[in-house]
Amino acid sequence: MSTLDRNLAEIAARHGVDLACVTPPSRASRLESLRKIIARTDVPYPITPQRQERYLNDFQSGKLFGIGTLSEDMVELENYAEFQDYEKYTYEEHLSWACLVADQQRTKHQFACQEYLKGESIFEIGGTVIPDYYLLNARIYQQTQWQLATVNMIIPAELFFTCHSHRLFPVTTFMRGLEVDYLEEPDIGHDVAGHVATFTIPAVADVMKNHGDARDLIYAERDQKLKAAGDEESARRIRDDAEELLLYAGRIYWFTVEFGLVMQGGQVRDFGAGILSSPGETTYSIESRESNRILIDPSDDHDLLRLATTDYLISEFQKTYFVMSSFDQLKSLTADRILMASKRAMELPHYTWREIVPGDKVIDVGELATSTNEKYLRLMLDMPLDDCLTRAALRNLQLYSKGLSSQQLSAFKIPPAELPQEALEWFRNQDQTPTT
Ligand SMILES: [Fe+2]
Repeated sequence: MSTLDRNLAEIAARHGVDLACVTPPSRASRLESLRKIIARTDVPYPITPQRQERYLNDFQSGKLFGIGTLSEDMVELENYAEFQDYEKYTYEEHLSWACLVADQQRTKHQFACQEYLKGESIFEIGGTVIPDYYLLNARIYQQTQWQLATVNMIIPAELFFTCHSHRLFPVTTFMRGLEVDYLEEPDIGHDVAGHVATFTIPAVADVMKNHGDARDLIYAERDQKLKAAGDEESARRIRDDAEELLLYAGRIYWFTVEFGLVMQGGQVRDFGAGILSSPGETTYSIESRESNRILIDPSDDHDLLRLATTDYLISEFQKTYFVMSSFDQLKSLTADRILMASKRAMELPHYTWREIVPGDKVIDVGELATSTNEKYLRLMLDMPLDDCLTRAALRNLQLYSKGLSSQQLSAFKIPPAELPQEALEWFRNQDQTPTT
């Protein structure tokens, strides 16, 4: 056995993976599986014979998978378009998938909600080789009408949500290195082993689609305003406002689809794909004493605003998780309500990911929790604070220095604590341009 083989065997053993099972299927065997899958009629959305034929032809002709073609929905991915070249995955990449999935399975069976685990088994996510997107895409379409669109990097929010409005889910083709638990950027481990199973939870799939529709509303309003824009400066402001709205809509997505928790059988369980793609965060989100866990009801306008006004970082495990009582509450998250909360968030002070806020229904106060005013004092006294705290503190000081009416603040369940006057005076004396 060579040194490389010995290293791989040791890595596999550490994760409980049988190296003999890490055997990428041949092209002929994948074709055979594809024939069987696409012909299924015992599924919610069977594939028509014409589309079956075209899909098979694409596979047989060697056309690489780029975007699902099982419906009329299509999005132009432009420079972000990518293709999955299955034969090019190395043995190490398949092993990396196998190890990640093995680790995930251990933590998921302990902490994931039941619906998510069911979704994984329907899509056969828990294998020992990277999934072929032709096969996976067909399975997803048959169950949910969603399809995959392969992209080459993190794509702009505007394009990401445009894909969602067409029930196309952007996925990368890159597999993280061996034994990497958490990545800031998406990879197959996040996109497939994290997200795909959530499509089978109807309320989650609907919220994803509704975010796409909210993006369409934001851009329709933007385009209408642009027609009346008198000069380039006004046009720029209109475009910036649309991007800002999308950012706040993205926070609602972040705290639900990506990092959401749900109560099940009296216990807190994970359903967010960002959590479940990381074995470490799957455990951390439920058991860590560092993070806050807050009960939230997205059907309540105040609670929805709490999500839209909460800033976060992607560079480390989350410091606040929001927990819903049931998936039914997600059904209230229509495109109109996502837009409404995002518009309100534009005018209001923002919270940070470490804060416990007046009116929160607290399940756990994390050891890293801060009060709402701590960020201002830290900024003023030049004490350490992370980018999230800095960003929110500067934004809020700017807003308060211009003046915020009690009517504006009444959008919150309980208005934030009064801002320390010293901080406001300090800010007014600073010669700086705050960022939002
Ligand atoms: Fe994600």
